[in-house]
Order: sequence, then structure tokens, then C-alpha cells
Amino acid sequence: MSFRLREFRPEDLDRVIFINRTCLPENYSRYFFMSIHKAFPDLFLVAECDGEVVGYIMCRIEKSFFRPPKGHVISIAVLPEHRRKGIGTAMLKEALARMSERYGVSECYLEVRVSNTPAISLYENLGFRRTDTIPKYYGDGEDAYVMTKILR
Ligand code: ACO
Ligand code: ZN
Repeated sequence: MSFRLREFRPEDLDRVIFINRTCLPENYSRYFFMSIHKAFPDLFLVAECDGEVVGYIMCRIEKSFFRPPKGHVISIAVLPEHRRKGIGTAMLKEALARMSERYGVSECYLEVRVSNTPAISLYENLGFRRTDTIPKYYGDGEDAYVMTKILR
């Protein structure tokens, strides 16, 4: 029932890959997960329920020479049987607080399938707004909304 958040550890990799493949068609290599963990260890979080990892959020800071850096939520997922308990909200809130406090970014964005109503609702509840549409962003041809939250 209750859950706790902590930073991803390398021994979580197989479990996080399992959750990613169970929940999303956008899958990543082991190398990609580990590279995010190494570059931004405090922005790759997992949620544990009874000692078992049931969700993750993976973010990074996007740097540009010409614009201030921005937070980017690359992927978030919670196993189906653990949804609607506030885990997704808790992970995203914690990641947003860390991006703002530790990296000083003033903006965070993400891409989401235009059909993904649950995720869009979660993001809107936390203050994200639709800022753009990217046609055929996904491998199967579906469009993405870009959603952005101003952090301060
Ligand atoms: N239908 C409608 N609204 C929903 C739904 C749903 N199925 N699920 C969540 N919401 C909204 C509700 O407003 C909910 O608040 P409420 O339960 O008080 O009504 C709010 O979001 C928060 O829900 P949480 O319990 O915090 O979210 P949860 O832990 O269930 O995780 C998540 C949400 C991560 C989107 C989950 O549904 C999931 O893993 N989905 C599959 C993977 C996915 O789509 N990930 C996002 C892809 S985009 C990206 O990664 C950047
Ligand atoms: Zn993205």
C-alpha cells in the first residue's frame, strides 16, 4: 500500500527495464538507462512498494549554448497494479523539485502521446501545459504533445 522513493541503483536495471517494457512501447538499451544514471543520478528515481520496485522516472538536464538549460522528463512508468495511488505524481514532484533546487532550471518539458489521457491528466494536475505538437513523433506515427512547466 505505502511506497517510498529512492534513487535508482545499478542492481535495479533489470527490474526497471521490465517495467519500461511492460508499460511503454518506447524502450531503451541497458546502456541508455545506465548513462542517464551516471550523468544525473539524482534525477533517475524509483518507487518501492513492499521492497519491490514498481515504478521509475528518468530525467535529464538539456544544455544548450544559446538558451538556459531545461529539465526533460524522458520516461515515467508505474506497473498497472500499482497505478492511481499517487506514485506517478510523487515521483514527478520529487524530480521537479530536484531539477529546480539542484540544477537551477526554470523550465521542465516532456513529450507525450496525444492519446495518453492518464499521463496528460497527471501532467496537467502538476501544472504542465501543452506548448507544442510534434507530428509523427512516435515510431508508429502518432503525434506528441510537448508539455512544459515553469518552475520559478
Ligand atoms: N485516467 C484518468 N486520469 C488518470 C489516470 C487514468 N487512467 N491515471 C492517472 N490519472 C490522473 C488522475 O488525475 C490522477 O489523480 P487521481 O487518481 O487523484 O484521480 C493523477 O493522474 C495522478 O495519478 P497517479 O496515481 O499519481 O499516477 P500513477 O501512479 O497511476 O502513474 C502513469 C501515472 C505513470 C502515467 C501511469 O498511468 C503509467 O505508467 N502509464 C503507462 C506509461 C506511460 O504512459 N507513461 C507516460 C509516458 S510520457 C513520458 O514518459 C514523458
Ligand atoms: Zn523527451
